[in-house]
Amino acid sequence: MSSESLLKAVTLLKQGEVVAIPTETVYGLAANALDPLAVTKIFAAKERPTFNPLIVHLSKSDDPANYVKEFTRSAQLLADKFWPGPLSILLTKKQVIPEIVTSGMDSVVLRKPAHPITQELLELLPFPLAAPSANKFKQISPTTAEHVRKSLKDEVAYIIDGGKATIGVESTIVDCRSERVVILRHGGVSKEEIEAVVGEVDEAIKEHSNPLAPGQLDKHYATVKPLILSNDIDSELAKHLNKKISLILWDAEARGEHTYSLSKDRNLLEAASNLFGMMHEADQDSSELIIAQQLPEKGLGRAINDRLKRASHR
Ligand code: TXA
Ligand code: MG
Repeated sequence: MSSESLLKAVTLLKQGEVVAIPTETVYGLAANALDPLAVTKIFAAKERPTFNPLIVHLSKSDDPANYVKEFTRSAQLLADKFWPGPLSILLTKKQVIPEIVTSGMDSVVLRKPAHPITQELLELLPFPLAAPSANKFKQISPTTAEHVRKSLKDEVAYIIDGGKATIGVESTIVDCRSERVVILRHGGVSKEEIEAVVGEVDEAIKEHSNPLAPGQLDKHYATVKPLILSNDIDSELAKHLNKKISLILWDAEARGEHTYSLSKDRNLLEAASNLFGMMHEADQDSSELIIAQQLPEKGLGRAINDRLKRASHR
């Protein structure tokens, strides 16, 4: 990353424009989180039919207490352990966060991303960045600059290429407002890792569209082709004998020409980092139907199954 392109991004963001930024989870579509007009441009670019609450990204040196009324004990413990990194924390917002960032709710979600380029960018800016994933509404999340270019080239002022996202699924979202932490979205930090820090947690994962957390619409992450999620690949294949099929596999043997193996070593970290890229590829190859294999429901497997399940609903 040249300092010239970093300065270009800084200039555009200061002018209230939208810039695509790399993060360790997925690419984000970023704008000045404290400028309502700039944030509105994010929704226009994404072609979202409604406004959705956005995650606010902070530099390492920024104090989250600038944006929330109380940085609670559980928030502090989790931030100490997982920031910068793929954890987003929901707390009660201060007035400085515009309503458009939170869809009028009084809570805001904060995250300190770990990607070095984006951290450098944030340190150069006098404001935090609101950023959803850099894909059009309902499309697969982007894990490379090329994915962003394909989906949003004409809608963003600039795309910073920071290489392939190392984590590959979105951040885990936790509600830290009350003593007992609640997981709102599975993601890059597993439930087990969170419980090791704050003890037992609750889960409130949105299964269906919910006006209060519209980003959790169950059609999210959709491929254009139909996608079936199954834990019995053989019987699923038997049901579709005369169709051209792409397989996204976890631990089964590759077969046929369009087989995408999430991790040959059955490593959940590697599988997460390959997930969205392989969904993009399977969507673009010559098959008619994608069959994806369910992963073990533990660690990052929960986040991966969640994304595949949502892609399979249509
Ligand atoms: O890894 C990530 O979190 C990526 C990168 C770019 O940081 N961002 C991301 O943003 O996944 P997005 O907009 O695709 O998903 C944000 C989720 C949505 O489900 C949204 O509804 C929820 O966070 N969210 C944000 N603010 C909220 C709030 N105040 N209350 C409830 N849900 C909120
Ligand atoms: Mg998204």
